[in-house]
Amino acid sequence: MNYRHAYHAGNHADVLKHIVIARVIDHLKQKDKPFRVLDAHSGIGLYGLESVEAEKTFEWREGVGRLFLADGSSIELSSDAEAIIAPWRDAIRSVNNPGRLAFYPGSPEIADWLIRPTDKISLNELHPTDYETLAARYGETGQVRLFKLDATAFLKATLPPIERRGLVLIDPPYELTDEGDRVVRMMTEALKRFATGIYCVWYPVTGDGLDQKLRDAVAGMGLRNVLDVRLDIRAVKKNGGLAGSGMMIINPPWHLAEELRVILPELTERLSQGEGTFKLDHQNDE
Ligand SMILES: C[S@@+](CC[C@H](N)C(=O)[O-])C[C@H]1O[C@@H](n2cnc3c(N)ncnc32)[C@H](O)[C@@H]1O
Repeated sequence: MNYRHAYHAGNHADVLKHIVIARVIDHLKQKDKPFRVLDAHSGIGLYGLESVEAEKTFEWREGVGRLFLADGSSIELSSDAEAIIAPWRDAIRSVNNPGRLAFYPGSPEIADWLIRPTDKISLNELHPTDYETLAARYGETGQVRLFKLDATAFLKATLPPIERRGLVLIDPPYELTDEGDRVVRMMTEALKRFATGIYCVWYPVTGDGLDQKLRDAVAGMGLRNVLDVRLDIRAVKKNGGLAGSGMMIINPPWHLAEELRVILPELTERLSQGEGTFKLDHQNDE
């Protein structure tokens, strides 16, 4: 396991992913019934934008750095788009002192910030050092459960959640050549246990065909309601690199597709590094 998210936190892919999960959590909060966020690949939760790792790549400057100034103030989108990304912005403000953008919240931090006292989170991270960092920040509490398992084993152990409502985030580093197949198997198993969950499955766009393979596999699962959102910041290059990213959202909340339709043109323009494009595809037979 070589991948460390600290080098990439706050980049364009994180921006899209985290805006989407913040929206999903916001929708889950619209009903009183408690829910659980299950994060199968948690990372460490909070990232320093002035850390050695962040300063090796400065990826965040072309991500969150296009939506916030160094003094922590917002570089605003339209008021309609701002209303939609507000939970994500709030999560970022919650980890920064006024006057300076120095930290970026990962998926556990965003969930921890946005959930209500009655909601719960289950965090899983396999990397031993990253697990320690994650565990030190969140600890086992009445609200947070921690796991250090392979993501497939984590989902087997925790699904369905007792709340029977919730978000499952599948966000692997795709560093193994068979990671796409693993994700498909993981989703198939997880859906057998918790068919009504909202699943957010992240994927990279590098030109290696993985995104299409995942899309085809999900299309073959016979699911009734799948939203696929993708934002490319540039054309793919021969030698790879992250040209874009996407999320497949299974059982998306009502109105999420509409909301993404509002923000995607603006977000794409803001994050573009030359040839930004987006796609939104909603297969809904419900
Ligand atoms: C892209 S990062 C997660 C970022 C995080 N979800 C966020 O949005 O802030 C992927 C994480 O998965 C972890 N990981 C890699 N293989 C894993 C596995 N088989 N099971 C669980 N976690 C794994 C990595 O150590 C890494 O921290």
